[in-house]
This record gives sequence, C-alpha cells and structure tokens, in this order.
Amino acid sequence: MLTTELVRFKELGKQITVLTAWDAISSSIVEASGADVVLVGDSLGMVVLGHNTTLPVTLDQILHHTQAVCRGFSKPLSKQPLVVCDLPFLSYQCGEDKAVEAAGSLLKNSSASAVKLEGAEPETLLVIKRLIRMGIPVMGHLGLTPQSVHQIGYRTQAKDKESQDKILKDSEMLQKSGCFAIVLEHIPEEIASRIQKDLTIPVIGIGAGEKCDGQVRVTADLLGLSNKQPPFAKPLIPGRELCINALKEWIKSTQLMESHHENI
Ligand code: KIV
Repeated sequence: MLTTELVRFKELGKQITVLTAWDAISSSIVEASGADVVLVGDSLGMVVLGHNTTLPVTLDQILHHTQAVCRGFSKPLSKQPLVVCDLPFLSYQCGEDKAVEAAGSLLKNSSASAVKLEGAEPETLLVIKRLIRMGIPVMGHLGLTPQSVHQIGYRTQAKDKESQDKILKDSEMLQKSGCFAIVLEHIPEEIASRIQKDLTIPVIGIGAGEKCDGQVRVTADLLGLSNKQPPFAKPLIPGRELCINALKEWIKSTQLMESHHENI
C-alpha cells in the first residue's frame, strides 16, 4: 500500500488501523488481523528491550526489528500492511544529512515504506522537508512525544490554551511540510477533533479520543502483555495471565509425566 492511500481512506471516512510489531511473530499476527499499517515504534525499547524510556533505542535496533517484522509477513508484498518505522532518538535531531542517512538505511535494508519522527520544531520541519524531497515519506507525531520525556513527562499534553494553540499550529506545519499523516498522542479529544477537521491528511490518535481518522495502539498493550499498561490503552484480553496459566499447565503436565515415569 502507498502512503497516499491513507489520504484516500480519510476522504472516504474509512477508519485507519495502526498496530505496532517488533518481530516476525507479532507482525504475522498483526498482518492476519487485517491492520492497515504496522508501526515498528521505538516503544519496542520499553516493550521488548526492557528500558524505562524510548531514548536508548538505536538505529541498528530499529533496523534489526524492522527486518524481522518484514520477514513475518506471509501475504504478497502488494497485500501486506504499510510498514512505518520510528526514527529513534538522535537519528534525526543532529541535522538533515544524518536524518537522510538514517531514514534511507531503514528503507534501503527492509521493505518499510516510511518513517515517523516526533515534534515540529523549525529544525525538525527542515529535516521532514528534506526527507520528503529525497523520496522518503514521513509520518509526524505530536502531543506526548516520548523522546522528550525528560521535558514533558508521560502525562496528557495540550491542556492549556497556549499549548493548544501550539499543537494546532504545529499540526498545520507538519501538513505543509509534506507529512502524509500525523499521530496525536495523549491530548484532549476536543483538540484532536479540531486538528482532524483542519487537516486534509489523516490524524491517527492514541489517547486522543475517538474523533480521529484512525487509531494506533501498541499491540502488547492491547493484548494485555505489558507489565505497565498506559491508562489510554485498555487491554482486550488478559494476555499475561493467559500465557502464564498455559505455561503453568504445561509445567504441571510435564511434572506429572516425570512422576509417572518414576513409578514404572
Ligand atoms: O513507538 C510507538 O509505538 C509509537 C506509538 C505509541 C504511536 O510511537
């Protein structure tokens, strides 16, 4: 699927579904579920690498996991979900050349089609424009931007008038700079809804209410596998409990087999 197709989804009023994946097992499950987009998010730093923030994630790790995600698909390429991968911390903050090299290496060495990066500061807008001129589609990300956790924390953003005006302006700037979609994370529903109406590109929400053009979720959160569930991602199933109980059953049955052998 081309990134431009998502704009058509918005025009048609078709909700866009985005799920994260981090390896071949998770991507094969997400592909089979029918999600439109697979995001290899830097949340993998917390979900699968055990870090407290996304900051330690490296470009090599994003590439390694993106390649595994792409290998997990079983449909022909044209029928696979669109793969977007995060540009990790410090891969695009140090200038346009470094960003083109980082994003280019992800698209060159995997079947990912686009990158996502956080914020809309003037330097970031220059990076976005340069990437797009070089043929690399970019998804924006505003609101709770986890790479700025030391400045903004993990709390709801855009609560006061000043920051609401800023996010409205930033989202317009991302569209003007050429982003094909933006993620809005953990902001009030009314603001997300205004941005959804103002922009012609799709607005994908997480913790931003239901009035977006689509929703993105960390798959491990939805499946109840994460130790720390964010408040805006209620698990659909108690995944951890189900897995632990299944494994306990297996251990019990193995021990029963052992004692049976001992008694023969
Ligand atoms: O890294 C990630 O998984 C993300 C989503 C939460 C949007 O950026």
